[in-house]
Amino acid sequence: MIPPPIQELLEAAALVAARAHCPYSKFHVGSALRATDDRIFTGCNVENASYGLTICAERAALFRAVSAGCLTFSAIAIVADGTAMPYPCGACRQVLAEFCPPHLPVHIATREHLDRILTLTLGELLPHQFTL
Ligand code: THU
Repeated sequence: MIPPPIQELLEAAALVAARAHCPYSKFHVGSALRATDDRIFTGCNVENASYGLTICAERAALFRAVSAGCLTFSAIAIVADGTAMPYPCGACRQVLAEFCPPHLPVHIATREHLDRILTLTLGELLPHQFTL
């Protein structure tokens, strides 16, 4: 059984994935970040006709949190279409690493199988992050 706090995060990510603006890729992604004060911030991918302006779900969630004054996090869930596990892109890993510790659990699942989760740490996904 998936622990309830993780299940809650996955369900929040799946829910917001439905709101993705993805007319070009048709690939829905949702992300839910749990703050250390237990608030949950969600985000979906928002694409643009000028493709490079697209923002990923993970960064959308993180930027919402930061804009709300929330800077510390305990976990993130990422849920997307398809059959392959939706690993976060390199850019999102680096942006998450600005605020999140290497031990941050990253829970990944497809929209179809929310019960099959893969959990990695941010440090496993991004060893040797860039720092100034
Ligand atoms: N996408 C995300 O939202 N997160 C990722 O980590 C990788 C890719 C989105 C961006 C684009 O809208 C679509 O998936 C296809 O690349």
